[in-house]
Amino acid sequence: MKTIIEPFRIKVVEPIRMTTRPEREQILREAGFNLFLIRAEDVLIDLLTDSGTGAMSSLQWAGMMRGDESYAGAKSWYVLQDKIRELTGFKHILPTHQGRASERILFELVGGPGKVVPNNSHFDTTRANIEHTGAKAVDLVIDEGKQPTLRHPFKGNMDLNKLETLIREVGVEHIPLVMVTVTNNSGGGQPVSLENLRAVRRICTKHKLPFFLDACRFAENAWFIKQREPGQQDRGVREIVHEMFDLADGATISAKKDGIVNIGGLLLLRDAELVRRADELLILTEGFITYGGLAGRDLEAMAQGFEEVVHEDYLQYRIRSTAYLGEKLLAAGVQIVEPPGGHAIYIDAKHFCPHIPPARFPGQALVVGLYRQAGIRSVEIGSVMFGQGGTVPSMELVRLAIPRRVYTQSHVDYVVEAIIELFGQRDQLRPLEIAAEPPSLRHFTARFREL
Ligand code: F0G
Repeated sequence: MKTIIEPFRIKVVEPIRMTTRPEREQILREAGFNLFLIRAEDVLIDLLTDSGTGAMSSLQWAGMMRGDESYAGAKSWYVLQDKIRELTGFKHILPTHQGRASERILFELVGGPGKVVPNNSHFDTTRANIEHTGAKAVDLVIDEGKQPTLRHPFKGNMDLNKLETLIREVGVEHIPLVMVTVTNNSGGGQPVSLENLRAVRRICTKHKLPFFLDACRFAENAWFIKQREPGQQDRGVREIVHEMFDLADGATISAKKDGIVNIGGLLLLRDAELVRRADELLILTEGFITYGGLAGRDLEAMAQGFEEVVHEDYLQYRIRSTAYLGEKLLAAGVQIVEPPGGHAIYIDAKHFCPHIPPARFPGQALVVGLYRQAGIRSVEIGSVMFGQGGTVPSMELVRLAIPRRVYTQSHVDYVVEAIIELFGQRDQLRPLEIAAEPPSLRHFTARFREL
């Protein structure tokens, strides 16, 4: 059999609403052409993010009913703790309400002025939490990772020479830890090889530096390792996952991705003193150490989600369905970041709208055009998101993130048709200017005018 099918059947459905083009015109104008400012019910297919938007399984919903809502020592906490210990080998596990809460606790403890944190590519909230403490966040992804059309099996890899140089230049005493993000979201959802993780570990060991993973999409990364890395084909995903975590001294995780839940996060640590201090901060702002800002039912759903995400039929379908979207677009001449990533396809908006200069927001023009055309919501990752204060980002991208287990192949076919149709009329996409913007993080609330 050639076709890789969705390895589930559908038990509960949620209607989605088709709007008319005049309605969408009106909605766009009212929202100042910013799709963060429209109502989700006015979106037909929502590809804004893969975070917290997944569909839970029947076993996860059953877990919701089992949730033990005791303040301390809830049974549901031990179910989750056992599952994460089994998957990762980490003994010390702190529950948080989402990934950035884990980041906030970690960097409050190890960050501060004068510190420098290297990563392949920091996700926005990771960077923001590091910079909030006065420390500096530095991206060291390999050069191949920055070229959209270049095919490389592990474009998320960290550049080991750049890492050694940075350590030499700033001094080990100024580096609290080295982080690697799997998969590399800011770099196109591209994976990191096991070989690269092992090499970063060796460099860290040599310099006595802690090595941390931003492990939001650890299972998708492990699947890529199994598919693409020489010598890994015969290993199980669980075994690869375990080795990835064995290499690390700690990890921040948003369970909204590979935990397949709508809310939740984890902070994994080995160092006992760090655990003690992290527990204090956890209690201060998240909640007691056995629930960390979550309900008992959320802990149950997470435990089951982390089990289901390493099932290989699920991962095969997941990665294949993202690649399916990417391959159809490429075949129609739409340039994307190649090869397709794990959780999202990133369209090269400079290529899509060559008539719109970066200062007139080609990515946002495409995001607006795609909603106007077909009711699809995507997100700009380019000059709107990163260009505030005069920075000119190297790429103008539009991300189509795929929620887990939510859309079927015909939804994806609809998205492909809409994008190809729009590509045929791309000279009609309209440049934009900013009408109003906040002092920072403008992509969330800025308003635009079409020119
Ligand atoms: N790290 C990475 C690599 C992420 O992609 C995200 C979230 C976080 C950390 C923060 O986790 O949202 O639970 O606080 N990424 C989402 C996205 C928001 O759309 O890519 P969080």
